Amino acid sequence: MLESDGRPQGPLTIRLQVNGEERKGEVEGRTTLADFLRDQLGLTGTHLGCEHGVCGACTVLLDSRPARSCLVLAASAEGSLVETVEGLARKGELSRLQRAMWDSHSFQCGFCTPGFLIQAAALLAENPSPTEVEVRCALSGNLCRCTGYESIVRGVMAAVEGPEPAGAGPR
Ligand code: FES
Ligand code: FES
Repeated sequence: MLESDGRPQGPLTIRLQVNGEERKGEVEGRTTLADFLRDQLGLTGTHLGCEHGVCGACTVLLDSRPARSCLVLAASAEGSLVETVEGLARKGELSRLQRAMWDSHSFQCGFCTPGFLIQAAALLAENPSPTEVEVRCALSGNLCRCTGYESIVRGVMAAVEGPEPAGAGPR
């Protein structure tokens, strides 16, 4: 059944792969990917700050590219691969990046941290040995109100340059 303007009436069923698992849900046409991940899948590591595409707290990987999940309609992510911050750790072990950022005290309140982690993970997947300038450029669209950014950049650079942290999983 269609609305008078041609949009489908009622909830839509979507299927997508989230952190390597097939997931399914029913969404309204206006439901964002962020709300779907948080409210239906319980993946509340994806934070919502501005909900206008400005702060980057809601960043996830959508088909391996960083995306602001507050701006993506869940229905348009049908069939996509989504990775959230919960997918970075493997078998309960923090990734190398997570461990390096933990050791570098790369956060204070932590609200921005999932977005920075996903953005940095995307950078390292594409460029495993970025310079500090490249790290700063890659993270420049994410906002943090607490740290002044220095410790965040230091954490990412520690993942690039530092010794393998004990117990760290893959990047
Ligand atoms: S909550 Fe999506 S960019 Fe701020
Ligand atoms: S650590 Fe508080 S907003 Fe970044």
